[in-house]
Amino acid sequence: MTGRNVKFGILTILAITLAGYVALAQPRRQQPPGKGMGASTVTNPAIPACEEEKKILDILAVMREKESRGMMNVPANDGRLLRMLAESIGAKNVVEIGTSNGYSGIWFCLALRKTEGKLTTYEIDKTRAALARENFKRAGVEKYVTLVEGDAHKEITRLTDKIDIVFMDADKAGYVDYLKKLLPLVRPGGLIVAHNTTSHGKWMEPYLKAVTTDKNLETLFLNVKPAGVGVTMKKR
Ligand SMILES: C[S@@+](CC[C@H](N)C(=O)[O-])C[C@H]1O[C@@H](n2cnc3c(N)ncnc32)[C@H](O)[C@@H]1O
Repeated sequence: MTGRNVKFGILTILAITLAGYVALAQPRRQQPPGKGMGASTVTNPAIPACEEEKKILDILAVMREKESRGMMNVPANDGRLLRMLAESIGAKNVVEIGTSNGYSGIWFCLALRKTEGKLTTYEIDKTRAALARENFKRAGVEKYVTLVEGDAHKEITRLTDKIDIVFMDADKAGYVDYLKKLLPLVRPGGLIVAHNTTSHGKWMEPYLKAVTTDKNLETLFLNVKPAGVGVTMKKR
């Protein structure tokens, strides 16, 4: 090989390497707005599939927009998650601690009308319990619901049937006691869903520890903002 050829070869390699660096240093092309991952992961509004579903969704929207003051209701997307969980596992028996005016309970009923299931829900406050009764009727879902008025810590000890989903949304310091009392009734593959795992994390530390350190449970945190929903499965 002549000296001229060697020089030409070295220059060619240098040119290719430089071109590679320049290409890597170029900023990535942005996806145009409305296309790509960002847009496709934005949650769409709930779309009713029939008149009955529309009636229930309309009532939920009114409750959320006009009647939620002082009711401490779950955000709409957490309600949608409750419905999705119940419908997807074919829940027949749902237990809710903390009814308030029935908002989250009505989300469960959207599923229960399809799974032919029932909801037993506990509320200690007379006024909110009365409102919930009215709202269950208004939504036409009262046939799926048993509302127990009183202290859930005491009242749930009467339960004997296997449970598909427990939903805790009452006194946060009480979640460990609810878990202790209800976990034996949750069927294998069943769910324990806890609300406010982000917003009230400090109050719930003992509960969060209990559900994340037990080898027989699998826990994930969903809809982490604004409130946070802990979804725990009792392993089969
Ligand atoms: C956060 S609100 C429930 C909101 C409801 N899940 C919803 O999204 O529509 C909590 C409710 O739990 C009730 N509560 C608190 N401690 C309770 C207890 N020991 N037994 C039964 N209900 C209780 C409160 O009165 C309150 O109405």
